[in-house]
Amino acid sequence: MRRKLAAGNWKMNGLRTDLAELEALAATFAAPKVDILLCPPATLLAPAAACSGPIAIGAQDCHAQDSGAHTGDVSAPMIKDAGANAVILGHSERRTDHGESSDAVRAKAVAAQAAGLTTVICLGESFKQREAANTLDIIGGQLSTSVPDGSTGENLVIAYEPIWAIGTGLVPNLDQIGEVHDFIRTRIERRFGAGVGRSVRLLYGGSVKPDNAADIFGVSNVDGALVGGASLKCADFSQIINAL
Ligand code: G3H
Repeated sequence: MRRKLAAGNWKMNGLRTDLAELEALAATFAAPKVDILLCPPATLLAPAAACSGPIAIGAQDCHAQDSGAHTGDVSAPMIKDAGANAVILGHSERRTDHGESSDAVRAKAVAAQAAGLTTVICLGESFKQREAANTLDIIGGQLSTSVPDGSTGENLVIAYEPIWAIGTGLVPNLDQIGEVHDFIRTRIERRFGAGVGRSVRLLYGGSVKPDNAADIFGVSNVDGALVGGASLKCADFSQIINAL
C-alpha cells in the first residue's frame, strides 16, 4: 500500500519570514496521516529543516557531481547536509529555462539517490504535443531516460506535470490524468518488476487547488500531488493535504 504524498514546490519564492507558513503547516499537521514534503528555495533549506517538524524538506534541483568548480550550483550531499532528504529533478522549468535533457536529469538523479535523497522526477508534455496526440510517447521517452536503474519505492517519486497546466489554471480532465498515470505505472512495473513498480508513488502536478484536489486524488494511480502556487500559503496547502 503506497502512502499518500503531498509535495509543495515554492519555486523561486520565499524569504525567511515566509517560514512562518511552514511553521503553521507543521503545527497543523503535527501527526500527519499522509507524507508531506515542502521544497523551498536553496537559501531556506537549512532553516526550513530546523523548523519543519514532521514535514520533510526537499530541494528543487541538484548538480550531478558531489563537489567541484561549478559556480552557483548545489550538490546532493550539500542538500543532505542542510537537513533535507529529497530533491525535485527535471521540472519543466528546469528543462525549458536551463536546457536540461532527460540524460542530464538521470545523471542528477543517480547522484541524488547515492546521497540518500528521494528523487521527485518530473515528466510532462507541452500543449502542442498533447494536441498532436504525442503525450504518451513524450512521457514514455522522458520516463525511460530520466529515471535511473536502481530506483526503488523509497528513492523514487514520479510527478506527471503537463507543462500547459503549470500555473495556468488549466487542468487535464480526469480521464486524461488517469491515462497518463496508468501508463507510467505499467511502464515502471515492466522495467523494475511488480514489487518496485507498484511501490513508486505517482504525483499529479499542474494547477492543483483546494477546489479540484479531491477529484484529482480520486483518479487511479494518483498517489498525491506536486503543488506549486497553492503550497505557498498554509491555508491552501492544508486544504489540499486534507483532500488526500
Ligand atoms: O512543481 C509544481 C508545479 O509546477 C505546479 O505548479 O501548482 O503552480 O501549477 P502550480
